[in-house]
Amino acid sequence: MASIFETRKKTSMAAILLLLGLLFVIWVYFDAAARSVGVCYGQIANDLPPRAEVIDLYKANGIERMRIYNPNSETLEALRGSNIELIIGVYNDDAQNLANNAAAANDWVQTNIKAYLPDVKFRYITVGNEIKPNDPMAPYVLPAMQNIRASIASEEIKVSTVIEMSLLGSSFPPSNGSFSDVATSYINPIVAFLATTGAPLFANVYPYFSYISNTKDINLTYALFTSPGVVVRDGNLEYKNLFAASVDALYFALEKVGGADVSVIVSESGWPSAGGVAATVENARTYYSNLISNSKNGTPKRPEYLETYLFAMFDENQKGPEETERNFGLFFPNKQPKYQLTSFA
Ligand SMILES: *[C@@H]1O[C@H](CO)[C@@H](O)[C@H](O)[C@H]1NC(C)=O
Ligand SMILES: *[C@@H]1O[C@H](CO)[C@@H](O)[C@H](O)[C@H]1NC(C)=O
Repeated sequence: MASIFETRKKTSMAAILLLLGLLFVIWVYFDAAARSVGVCYGQIANDLPPRAEVIDLYKANGIERMRIYNPNSETLEALRGSNIELIIGVYNDDAQNLANNAAAANDWVQTNIKAYLPDVKFRYITVGNEIKPNDPMAPYVLPAMQNIRASIASEEIKVSTVIEMSLLGSSFPPSNGSFSDVATSYINPIVAFLATTGAPLFANVYPYFSYISNTKDINLTYALFTSPGVVVRDGNLEYKNLFAASVDALYFALEKVGGADVSVIVSESGWPSAGGVAATVENARTYYSNLISNSKNGTPKRPEYLETYLFAMFDENQKGPEETERNFGLFFPNKQPKYQLTSFA
């Protein structure tokens, strides 16, 4: 009897260990996916590869997340079954109609989201890109978000918007971060909506543009994540790079308007390889590879994974007016990589 008992105990012990091992493997697998960066698939160009080839290029490079700026049906068709997680944008100019007309919001959701479920992995819908508080579309952003959320009726696909950092009136030091007076009437109700619905706020963060607008006060190493020492001390927070200081300024600003629990996703960041001050292939390679590593560690205020999207997949020859705008690609339109980045995860 005793020996049988012993055997059974050993068997169940082995089963438990096997199960734990399996859980560990699953955990590592999902953890790796959860920590990868995304890449923005901008399409303002006339020489890009066919969309299906672009999706294959994402997969071949292990890029598991994509941001697209508008609901392009060819892109969405090509994404079917790809397992790539998606941020999909609503055109700025569509906000008014989607805000004023619940049926239009229903149509939008039906045509661009539901028609592709479950084959396309939508994670976020962003209404508008960098709409400013004084833009004619600004009053429509929140009501459009509300109508789309009502149509989606899903907790898995969150609805938000993408801001640019000029909404911050102050950002130095980071703990002094707050939205400008002109921005608050626009952003505060949006933050309240995000807090209630558990959605993140998306922000486009470009240390490059901060650097070129103030090369006297900002050291290039601070902008490229290569500063050997702490550059900004803010209470007990220490900053060695401008990117983290900018993101934390946004976190502090959110706290001041009731958004302490709203997380931030960096919907764009990048560095041009040509066309302007400090725009070199070497600087850009340094920036992107450090941005990828940084996404694992987050910022001094939020030292945890920070979901980040690199801008952009390709050089886009119809962007402008600045020459730098056409040189943000990680790949050339012929699909050759511009940089040797070791990994996107
Ligand atoms: C905080 O921001 C305000 C407004 O921009 C500015 O006047 C003030 O000097 C900043 N505080 C510090 C310590 O820099
Ligand atoms: C920028 O930082 C580098 C490295 O710390 C340093 O050698 C250089 O003097 C700094 N430049 C300025 C303008 O502060």
